[in-house]
Amino acid sequence: MKRAIIIGATSGIGNELAKLLVQHDYLVGITGRRVAELEKLKRENSGAYFISSFDCTTANNAEKLTELTNQMGGLDLLILSSGTGDLNENLDFEIEHNTNLLNVNAFTQIVDWAFNYFQAHGKGHLVAISSIAGIRGSRLAPAYNASKAYQINYLEGLRQKATKSKKPIFITDIRPGFVDTDMAKGDGQFWVASKEKAARQIFGIIKRKKGIGYVTKRWWIVAKILRLIPSWVYRRM
Ligand SMILES: NC(=O)c1ccc[n+]([C@@H]2O[C@H](COP(=O)([O-])OP(=O)(O)OC[C@H]3O[C@@H](n4cnc5c(N)ncnc54)[C@H](OP(=O)(O)O)[C@@H]3O)[C@@H](O)[C@H]2O)c1
Repeated sequence: MKRAIIIGATSGIGNELAKLLVQHDYLVGITGRRVAELEKLKRENSGAYFISSFDCTTANNAEKLTELTNQMGGLDLLILSSGTGDLNENLDFEIEHNTNLLNVNAFTQIVDWAFNYFQAHGKGHLVAISSIAGIRGSRLAPAYNASKAYQINYLEGLRQKATKSKKPIFITDIRPGFVDTDMAKGDGQFWVASKEKAARQIFGIIKRKKGIGYVTKRWWIVAKILRLIPSWVYRRM
């Protein structure tokens, strides 16, 4: 039986992925701050879930993950789905700071712990949900886009490190467009995927151990276009 941990399983994409993994016979460690949501999930299949409730911005993530992994008897897959971000046209520092605490600081602590664990055990798969937002900057949510760019870049570094290690360690960067969850903010949303569809596509990407996956698939076109827009045009948008 394979064992996975999902950070951020109380709602949205992480919550759907937890259900999907259990349907595919995984033992799943689920985390998030809202313990009631974790308990709700566990009631659906009590033998399949292990709960650990903590705030990634204040907890010692490495300690929490080691504890949970020991309870589960090991780990094959870690999915990092926790994330935050807000529209911040007035550049309220509190919003930017909170975004960085989770999307940069806690992210780094968690992916580093996972990489070192997989390195020590000779194999494993790390998946993190970044965003299409990480491709270019944003005047509406500067820290969110910048933190997602950090994640994309960091994961590329870890992928290089995994390849050099010559061990079967896989690093997957999932870049969603819009998914219908609490996180999807702002006007003008298009190609919005349901969280069920997003989770199904992410699970497919995980099974194929792809390095990068756009969700839904057609968002790679947007990524391509975003990269091609010259900066003198982009800065006027
Ligand atoms: N929805 C979209 O359109 C979209 C698009 C691109 C990328 N993404 C990315 O996808 C990931 C998942 O987001 P989602 O759309 O599924 O939104 P969501 O439903 O709001 O899920 C966010 C998850 O992060 C957890 N979380 C937030 N702050 C936390 C903290 N301080 N400590 C621990 N856990 C925390 C939440 O759990 P608690 O609140 O219980 O702690 C929740 O489980 C995020 O990284 C997001 O940036 C989403």
